[in-house]
Amino acid sequence: MNAFYRATVPSNIAFLKYWGKRDASLQWPANDSLSMTLNALTTETSAKRIDGPDHIFKFEGEIHPRNSRLFAKAYKHLDRLAQLPEIEGALEISTANNFPLGAGMASSASGLGALTLAALAAWLECPDFESLARRGFPRPRLANLARLGSGSAGRSLFGGYVCWRAGEKPEAQTIVPAFPAAQWGLRDSVIVFAGNEKGISSSEAHEQAWSSPLFAPRLAGIPERLEAMEKAIQRRDLHLLGPLLEVEALEMHAVIMTAKPGHCYLNEQSLAFISALRDARRQRKIQAYFTIDAGPNIHLIHEEEAHQALLSWLETHWPGHLLLHDKVGEGPLLEYLRV
Ligand code: PMV
Repeated sequence: MNAFYRATVPSNIAFLKYWGKRDASLQWPANDSLSMTLNALTTETSAKRIDGPDHIFKFEGEIHPRNSRLFAKAYKHLDRLAQLPEIEGALEISTANNFPLGAGMASSASGLGALTLAALAAWLECPDFESLARRGFPRPRLANLARLGSGSAGRSLFGGYVCWRAGEKPEAQTIVPAFPAAQWGLRDSVIVFAGNEKGISSSEAHEQAWSSPLFAPRLAGIPERLEAMEKAIQRRDLHLLGPLLEVEALEMHAVIMTAKPGHCYLNEQSLAFISALRDARRQRKIQAYFTIDAGPNIHLIHEEEAHQALLSWLETHWPGHLLLHDKVGEGPLLEYLRV
């Protein structure tokens, strides 16, 4: 019999972006961020204890050794978790995303989130969140450990709308659910313009952000923007949220474009798309607003009622591009399976 612990962790899309670290070694962000946890775009990671000198790490069935460049972050995170006094021994980890690796979706949030959850469940032999909490690992602590692997991963440990508060000092930072998924059933459709050839990694971007002349004014405006976004979610008001999403995404990109040495994640298609979307919205053809992460692909945030019209507009005016459709979700799943 084969018994293992399986974590299914969704990706999340930031409405207010984590951009810049105050302290990289403690993973202390420069500002508060707010995201929507997705539903269908997930990483599934299974873990079980094994006898042996080191972990075995498989991605989509293929073993990746410790010196693998692609999974260095994963091994580093396992080593970090293994320093906890409760933890001992090697694991066999098997992981896969349900979205294509080349689709330009950031897999670090769901990937590092699922790794944290599955690995701790296996090490501590906890089949569910309740038993993890009883062993001293309640959800906020799991989120806090996940964010050490990748900042945005911490937010994926909760469902609905999630806020990562930077706090006054590194130890005071917290990741908290701001609103449940049921508060507002927003959808996110992603138009994919390019794969994962990001140019620079998000870690490099977090470091470079400080050199932009736009970074200090950005930080000064964050509390007000966060409050306005929370108010918009509270009232389910897309006309209030939408423009805030767009200004936030463009500001994040402006910061990295004006940093030293600086980088532009957007490509010609992203820019043409933004203009076309705004025109179509002005003409009342569609009701969707964009946000963009560290890449050229555009996330279209909209309400259920607007989905069909958006789909027809995309199919007519932007044919031939990969589209991923998702919505706000309830958060991760943890299971213990015997097969
Ligand atoms: O978690 P990281 O270090 O890959 O940084 C994520 C950065 C953004 O996705 C661009 C913004 C965010 O808050 O998720």
